[in-house]
Amino acid sequence: MGTLAVVSRKGGSGKSTLATNLAVYLARSTGSVTLGDLDHQQSMRVWLARRPSAAPPIVGWVGDSVRLSRPALGTQHLVLDTPGGLHGLGLARVVMVADAILLPVGGSVFDRESASDCWNELRSQPRIMKGQCRVAAVGMRVDSRTHVERITAEWAASVNIPYITSLRMAQIYVRAVENGISLFDMPDNVGATDREQWQPLLNWAEPVFFPQPKDDPLTPSLRLAAKVVPLRPPASQPADTQPVALSPAATASVLSRPSRLSRILSGFLGARR
Ligand SMILES: Nc1ncnc2c1ncn2[C@@H]1O[C@H](COP(=O)(O)OP(=O)(O)O)[C@@H](O)[C@H]1O
Ligand SMILES: [Mg+2]
Repeated sequence: MGTLAVVSRKGGSGKSTLATNLAVYLARSTGSVTLGDLDHQQSMRVWLARRPSAAPPIVGWVGDSVRLSRPALGTQHLVLDTPGGLHGLGLARVVMVADAILLPVGGSVFDRESASDCWNELRSQPRIMKGQCRVAAVGMRVDSRTHVERITAEWAASVNIPYITSLRMAQIYVRAVENGISLFDMPDNVGATDREQWQPLLNWAEPVFFPQPKDDPLTPSLRLAAKVVPLRPPASQPADTQPVALSPAATASVLSRPSRLSRILSGFLGARR
């Protein structure tokens, strides 16, 4: 079982966004994922409750950072969302169960300072020092018209944390959460640019979920690909359980018109609930 946790001291930094999108990707590519939530606000529950029944199922699990235990046996992959402000024993317990940790970092100096504090605490944990739990930063809500991406990359280099990708600011993330879906529930023509930004993250996460057998160096390594998994159901799947897909008519223009995107998603998903 591979476990990836998303950690940041700041609320609103994008932890749940990273966790839900990664969980859907894994659900689509491996068929089995548990989305754990240590957040007392339980954003996961809200999101899972909104998830359309036709979308690939994700098992929810509510944990407790004080008495953190692994979810039930049989869980193949675990994506762990955590509350803001996690530190001390709670943070140490997450490091004990995680194979990898993503640290989302926003664009302000306050975000970077907070991320530095979190990283300083993380890097002193024995499992991280020994390389048993990898950590990387992800730039969140990056506005491409600014220098934020460069500044965040420079910050990451200065504190010696791998900086694997930046995700642009896009309403598609907000609308997806509102509808219990993710970028990876959408068809090729919606959200493609955003999914491309996920590829370095998926490459980085791959060893967590697909450990390479030591005696099999020739196995192709790239099993997590940001190209969305085809939304066509297997032939045996009844038509009324087809995975969620937007109509092909919802083309690229929806990205620049969030209100229209919202209407399309709400109408489409409402009709399927
Ligand atoms: N790349 C993005 N572009 C636009 N909005 C985003 C992006 N990532 C996250 N958000 C929004 O920011 C808000 C906070 O994100 P969230 O993942 O809930 O943070 P956290 O779990 O750290 O509190 C949510 O409304 C989410 O939809
Ligand atoms: Mg959250």
